Amino acid sequence: MLQRLMAAVRRPAAPVRVDDIVDSAAGKSIVDQFHVLWYGSEAAAGVTWQGQPVLKSPFDLWMYQQLITSTRPDVIIETGTHRGGSALFFSDVARLAGHDMDVITIDFNPKLAYDPAPHRIFPIAGISTAGETIDAVRTLLSTRHSRPPTVMAVLDSDHSKQNVLDELRLYAGFVSVGQWLVVEDTNVNGHPVLPGHGDGPYEAVADFLRANPAFEPDRSCERFLFTQNPGGWLRRVRN
Ligand SMILES: C[S@@+](CC[C@H](N)C(=O)[O-])C[C@H]1O[C@@H](n2cnc3c(N)ncnc32)[C@H](O)[C@@H]1O
Repeated sequence: MLQRLMAAVRRPAAPVRVDDIVDSAAGKSIVDQFHVLWYGSEAAAGVTWQGQPVLKSPFDLWMYQQLITSTRPDVIIETGTHRGGSALFFSDVARLAGHDMDVITIDFNPKLAYDPAPHRIFPIAGISTAGETIDAVRTLLSTRHSRPPTVMAVLDSDHSKQNVLDELRLYAGFVSVGQWLVVEDTNVNGHPVLPGHGDGPYEAVADFLRANPAFEPDRSCERFLFTQNPGGWLRRVRN
């Protein structure tokens, strides 16, 4: 099987379908091995955007770029600011596409090393699940937009199952139909990295989806073969 797959990819009569690769045991094994190598290497810790560290893979950043430019959300809400690299990336992608977009980014210990204001980045310092944080998000959405904005959300703070589940329940309501609720780092707890992590984002997504049919995993966001968010790109398909 592996030999047939490699031969097809080396001399393709037509591009090999992504599903044919990741649905085969051999293809999945290669992708998972690359994923583990990437995650454990210094390469993963060296990703920057405009000089700011970003804790994401370039594959996933490129996918965000495609989602932002193709669907042009008015706002991205992000939990987990860290150094602000991902917030700056989202903001710059929109600006380069000539699109006006706000980024609301939430962290109880943000380490921003640049002035967010010129980038339409609105930091909220607080616990992502606290009532006052949710109120601050609502206030920003209503004061900066005269009509309900289209919203994408990215959950990237504390990766324990309970926190992610709490964030899913609190932030899902902000996400517009046709937009994404991205749960970052579903790869931990053996999917395929950090097998000893314990229940985390992947398990939170499974619980959330059982009770929330408005959201479906969007496998098309995994079409670069490798993502740190397997099963975590949730698309809102109905109200
Ligand atoms: C994985 S980092 C975020 C990475 C960033 N989004 C990026 O891609 O570069 C997680 C951040 O979440 C913050 N954090 C962890 N638990 C939190 C919580 N319950 N509420 C708010 N922020 C939290 C941490 O302070 C940390 O800066």
